[in-house]
Amino acid sequence: MNRRASNIFRRVARPARRPRPADLAERVERAERLDPVIEAAQSAARRVLPPGPVRDLLNGVPFGHPAHAPMTDLPVGCWMSAAVLDLLPGGRRAAGALIATGLAGAVPTALAGLADWSTLHREQQRVGLVHALGTATATVLYSASLVARARGRDGTGRVLGFTGLTALLGGGYLGGHLAFRQAAGASHADPVAHLVPLGWHDLCPVAELPDGWPVSRSLGYISLFVLRTGDDVHVLTDRCSHLAGPLHQGRIVQDGDDELCVVCPWHGSTFRVRDGSVVHGPATGRQPAFETRVSDGGVVQVRPIS
Ligand code: FES
Repeated sequence: MNRRASNIFRRVARPARRPRPADLAERVERAERLDPVIEAAQSAARRVLPPGPVRDLLNGVPFGHPAHAPMTDLPVGCWMSAAVLDLLPGGRRAAGALIATGLAGAVPTALAGLADWSTLHREQQRVGLVHALGTATATVLYSASLVARARGRDGTGRVLGFTGLTALLGGGYLGGHLAFRQAAGASHADPVAHLVPLGWHDLCPVAELPDGWPVSRSLGYISLFVLRTGDDVHVLTDRCSHLAGPLHQGRIVQDGDDELCVVCPWHGSTFRVRDGSVVHGPATGRQPAFETRVSDGGVVQVRPIS
């Protein structure tokens, strides 16, 4: 290599990169040694919270959004406010009241988190487990802080409170990683529907669709769930809004109103095939549905419902 070429490829000295918190979170994602604990906790969670109305409520099905994340506002808000009062003179009683309120909110918040966690992918569950350990540690420390304050040991109560806040922030960071990097709780179906241009599109000949049996058909590079029942054709996005499971491999059932539904084969989310609305979680986001018609030439045509 001549001198000019060696100058071109000369190494540029780069400062050593400091590990970021996200690097640590990614290591947790890969920490297989957590798996035996996860398997035991998962089967316990499924026993304590079987599919049904209580788990649907904890998942957030009636609200159309996961319930856990907004529920954390109560304990996090109360405990952070208590930390501010602990730094100011005269806030002792109010700080104690906020800590007690946060503890009351922590129990349902943890149950909602457990309901969501029990149906996540393994990498998400590893991060979720450490997130839960952080927030559980915070809850224990705030409980001890409240007891210390009730016994008149305010200094100890403050130290325990600030230590609890540190554990809470660590656990909260992993909760953010779970939601924003690993997309737990986000709809995995909504973005797909936006990839279909507006207007009608030819999908497939109606004659090739079996009656009462779901199949998958492609619209460009997008997979759609297609179910023909007699003269009706129902089309939904095939990727389940929960974690992108293949809906066309699911079971067809009827709900209490005799509406046809599809049950996702991965975690049992149940959607009405007519409009994609959620009947049972863990999914909370509607499955995008398509309008359908059959052309004179016998071709099923679809268009996104805007
Ligand atoms: S991917 Fe989890 S219920 Fe469909």
